[in-house]
Amino acid sequence: MSTEKQFDVVVIGGGPGGYIAAIRAAQLGFKTACIDEWANAKGGPAPGGTCTNVGCIPSKALLQSSEHFEHAGHAFAEHGINVAGLELNLGQMLKRKDGIVKQNNDGILYLFKKNKVTFFHGRGAFAGKADGGYTINVSGPATDTLSAKNVIVATGSNARELPGAPFDEKLILSNTGALAIDAVPARLGVIGAGVIGLEMGSVWRRLGAQVTVLEGLPTFLGAVDEQIAKEAHKMFTKQGLAIHLGCKIGNITKGENEVTVEYVDSTGVAQTATFDRLIVSIGRVPNTTGLGIETVGLQLDDRGFVVVDDECRTSLPGVWAVGDVVRGPMLAHKAEEEGVAVAERIAGQHGHVNFNTVPWVIYTSPEIAWVGKTEQTLKAEGVAYKAGTFPFLANGRARALGDTSGMVKFLADAATDEILGVHIIGPMASELISEAVVAMEFRASSEDIARICHAHPSLSEATKEAALAVDKRSLNF
Ligand code: FAD
Ligand code: NAI
Repeated sequence: MSTEKQFDVVVIGGGPGGYIAAIRAAQLGFKTACIDEWANAKGGPAPGGTCTNVGCIPSKALLQSSEHFEHAGHAFAEHGINVAGLELNLGQMLKRKDGIVKQNNDGILYLFKKNKVTFFHGRGAFAGKADGGYTINVSGPATDTLSAKNVIVATGSNARELPGAPFDEKLILSNTGALAIDAVPARLGVIGAGVIGLEMGSVWRRLGAQVTVLEGLPTFLGAVDEQIAKEAHKMFTKQGLAIHLGCKIGNITKGENEVTVEYVDSTGVAQTATFDRLIVSIGRVPNTTGLGIETVGLQLDDRGFVVVDDECRTSLPGVWAVGDVVRGPMLAHKAEEEGVAVAERIAGQHGHVNFNTVPWVIYTSPEIAWVGKTEQTLKAEGVAYKAGTFPFLANGRARALGDTSGMVKFLADAATDEILGVHIIGPMASELISEAVVAMEFRASSEDIARICHAHPSLSEATKEAALAVDKRSLNF
C-alpha cells in the first residue's frame, strides 16, 4: 500500500502566488496541500514568501515608520506642532516591522486552516511521475511524500548577486539585510536605482544615512513614463538621494567595517566610493534549484524561469507555474492573480489575468504608480494619443495634507478616447491608481472618468481633473 499522502493539488511555495492558489483550489473543492520552507527566527513556519517576510510588507512598515520620523523632524512644524527632543528608536522600529510580518505569517496559517489547506513546512521537490500525476518529497522540518495530479510551482525569486560581491548580509546586503540594519549607517551605498534601491534608499535616508545610488543605465527609471521619471529624479535628488546614472561597477572590496566600490562614472572617469553598508538591488532570479526539475524534465528558459504559456501551463501536463518564477512582472498581485486563475483552470473554469492592467507602485515619497502604456511607448508604437495632466499643487486636499508634489497624467486614444495609460506621482498614488485600473479593465474613456462625481476635497479629484485635461477642459487649473 502506498504511504504517499494523496492530494488533488499540491502547491510548492507559500508566497502570494502559492498560498493564494492553494486557498482558491481548496475553495473549489480540491484536496489541497501547500509546501513552504520559509522559517522564522525560531525555526517555525513563516508562510507568505518574499512578499511577507522580506519584501512588500516589511518594506512598507519601514517606509511608514521612517516617513513619520521625517515628518516629525521637518513637516510637523508647518502644522504648528513642535516636537522637542525627537529621537530615533531603531530597535523599536524594527521590532514593529517584525511584529507586522508575524501577524501576516499567522494570518496565512489561519487562512489555510479555515480553507482546509494542508500545510507542510519544508522543502518540496519533484520525486517522480506516478499514477498520471507526480510524487513530491517534502524535506526539512516536515518529512513526507505527497502525490497529486496537479502541481503548482510557486517558488518565487531571490536577489541577484553582483559577480565577485556575494551577499553576506552584514556589509553587502540583499533586500533581506537591507530591511534589518541594526544601526543607521552614516554612508549607505546602493547599486541599482530600481524599485528596491529607491524604496530602501528612501527608508535609510529618512533615518539619517547619506545615501549614494549607483545605477548602470544612463536613464532613470526607464520603465516609468519619462515625464514622471524626470519629476521623480528631481524630487529624490532634492531630498538628498545622490543618484549617479550610467555607472559601470568594477571591483568591490570589503574591509572590516566598510565596503569600497570602484566604478566608472557616466563621463568615463574612474571613481572610488566607500560605504558602511552596501545594498545590491539589481533585479532578482527565479528559484528552481533543489526542486527536482531534472527528475521530471520541467523546462526552464535561458534565464532560469519556468517556461509557461499564457495560461501558466508548463512543459509537463498537470504542472503549472505562477508568480516570480515565471515571465512577467515580479509583483505580488500579479502572482496572486495567476494563482487564482490557475486554480480555476484546474477546475475547468476560465481563469483570466489581464497583463495590460497590472498596476505598478513605487512606495517612495512621493509615491509613483502607473497602469498601461507610457507616453514613450505610445510614441514608439506610433499610436495617436491625447495627454492630460493635473498637478497636486492645484488640489485642495493635497494642500491640506501639506503634500502638493507631483501630478496625475492621463493618456487616451486620439480617435476613441479609450484610456491607454495613467501615471501618477504624488501623495497616495498607490491608492489612486486603482480607479484607473478599474477604468481600463472596463475599457473606459477619459470622458467617462471626467463625468464621474468625485468627492471633494479628495486627492481623487486630481484624477478627474487630469481626465478633463485630456480635452483641455480641466476646471481647477
Ligand atoms: P515568493 O514570495 O518569493 O514566495 C515563494 C515561496 O516559496 C518562498 O516562501 C520560498 O521560501 C518558497 N520556496 C521556494 N522553493 C521552495 C521549495 N522547493 N519548497 C518549498 N518552498 C519553496 N511586490 C509588490 O507587488 N508590491 C510591493 O510593494 C513589493 N515590495 C517588494 C519589496 C522587496 C524588498 C522585494 C524583494 C520584493 C517586493 N515585491 C513587491 C515583489 C514581491 O515580493 C514578489 O513579486 C512576490 O513575493 C512573488 O510571489 P511568489 O509567490 O511568486 O514568490
Ligand atoms: P529592478 O529591476 O527594479 O531594478 C534594478 C536596477 O538595477 C535597474 O535600474 C537596473 O538597470 C540596475 N542594474 C542592473 N544591473 C546593474 C549593475 N550591474 N550595475 C548597476 N546597476 C544595475 O530590481 P530590484 O530593485 O532589485 O527589485 C526587483 C523586483 O522586485 C522589482 O523589479 C519588482 O518587480 C519587485 N519589487 C517591487 C516593489 C513594488 O512593487 N513596490 C518593491 C520592491 C521590489
